[in-house]
Amino acid sequence: MNESDRFQIEVTRRTVVETGTTALLLAGLPRTALAAGPGEADPSTPSATVELTINGHSHVLSLDPRTTLLDALREHLALTGSKKGCDHGQCGACTVLIDGRRINSCLTLAVMHDGQSITTIEGLAEGESLHPLQTAFIEHDGFQCGYCTSGQICSAVGMLAESRLGMPSYVTDDLTQPAAELGDAEIRERMSGNICRCAAYPNIVAAIKQAAGLAT
Ligand code: FES
Ligand code: FES
Repeated sequence: MNESDRFQIEVTRRTVVETGTTALLLAGLPRTALAAGPGEADPSTPSATVELTINGHSHVLSLDPRTTLLDALREHLALTGSKKGCDHGQCGACTVLIDGRRINSCLTLAVMHDGQSITTIEGLAEGESLHPLQTAFIEHDGFQCGYCTSGQICSAVGMLAESRLGMPSYVTDDLTQPAAELGDAEIRERMSGNICRCAAYPNIVAAIKQAAGLAT
């Protein structure tokens, strides 16, 4: 077996939901190579120091203050599970959790989150145990190419937490209830910021319902 064969075998459907890996080449590159960045820093570029706790680990980064959180994750820490789809807040592929709340990481600067705790797709599993949403996405075939999947799963984690707190959505009928019932319409509305170009929506909804303990 050559190196190429080994990398191809390592990329499974579990790999996609656990790490957001969608490209065989990236799976085989050492993390140091991924984090190496575009080259020597320009000494005239402004720099700011930010401390982020990412997936339980503290990182102190020296960044151009204009660096988005998404670029800090991908380009400076080699956490490439969070994807850059549109870079304009329109697709949700970059969704991560900040102190448990979902956010489009392409629309926020890393320096705005100094001292905060960030969870990416790489931080959801506990050892060998996948997060229930990751398991459900595999069981319900909630993805095809996998490009949107990291964002879908992180968004669903945040969405279910919002729902448990009783936050209503645009389609919630009865605002007097402590929490809206999570039917298909509620889930679709609450997940509407996450686009899937493969149109795996029925399977995504089914996966979320399973993870929420609802009948699918
Ligand atoms: S890459 Fe952030 S919303 Fe599309
Ligand atoms: S699985 Fe391909 S974009 Fe969603």
